[in-house]
Order: sequence, then C-alpha cells, then structure tokens
Amino acid sequence: MLSKKLEEALNAQINAELWSAYLYLSMSADCAAKGYIGMENWFHVQFQEEQDHAMKIFNYLISRGARVDLRPIDKVGKSWATPLAAFEDTLEHEQVVTKMINDLYALADKEKEYATQSMLNWFIDEQVEEEETAQKYIDALKMIGNNGFGLYQFDKELAKRTYTPLV
Ligand code: FEO
Repeated sequence: MLSKKLEEALNAQINAELWSAYLYLSMSADCAAKGYIGMENWFHVQFQEEQDHAMKIFNYLISRGARVDLRPIDKVGKSWATPLAAFEDTLEHEQVVTKMINDLYALADKEKEYATQSMLNWFIDEQVEEEETAQKYIDALKMIGNNGFGLYQFDKELAKRTYTPLV
C-alpha cells in the first residue's frame, strides 16, 4: 500500500503534468494566432503527450488501490514574444518537472517503494528527452535569428511531428 505522503506527491505530479498540458495548449494557440502552423502542431502534440503523462500516474494510483485527487489547474501564459521565448519557457518548465520527478523518486526510494520507482523510471528517461529537445530547438532558433526563411523552414520541420498515444 502506498503511504499517504507518496499518494499526495503522485497526485501533485498529476496536477503538474496537466498544468504542462495546459501550458503547451496555450503555446499552440499562440502559434496558431501568429501563423506558425508547424509550431502549432508541435505544441499540440506536446499537449497530448502531457495528458498521457498525467494518465500514466492516474492509472498507477488506481492500480495500487490509492486515491486520485484532481486539483484546480493554475492559469498559464497566453502570449510569447517570439518562438524562441516559447521554447525557453518550455525548457525552464521541463527543468522544474525533472526536479519534481527526481524528488518523487527520492521519496519512493526512502520508502523502499520499488514498484513506484519502476514506474518513475519511465519519467526519468522522458525528462532527459524533453530537456534535450527543448534545448535543441533553442539552439536552432538562436542560429536562425531574424532570418525569415530559416524560421519558415524550422516551422515546416515541426509540422511533421505526430502523436502516438502512450496509454
Ligand atoms: Fe510530462 Fe513534459 O513532462
């Protein structure tokens, strides 16, 4: 049986994942409003994946006989000055999520909760990818600078991302 402390922390993580989904949905809308259809797509897929992250923990809590506690989702930003600013916010946010996952893992370790650690291993690997991708796009956008054709090509590239359900 999960401890109340771990149950509470996993519920907080569900909320953080849903907040992430909300953040990326807002970025997607902002890109749509500005005509960046590739980035609109990319952030929309990101939105879908974050919901899957939340559901992975949601399903885990249920499978362990623990209670799901859905909380209000805080407001997110509405507009980003540039695509670079959106990806910089993405990286910053993913770094916060990585810390949350690491803290969860440390708690599960302290409680000798091996099944929870096993479930969290997926998230640890995922966070490496999340941060790497955001950094990759930040580097590319810095290289592109004010080059309109470069930005057009970048946007076209991000239009290719497709969503594969996780859960
Ligand atoms: Fe669910 Fe982007 O981490």
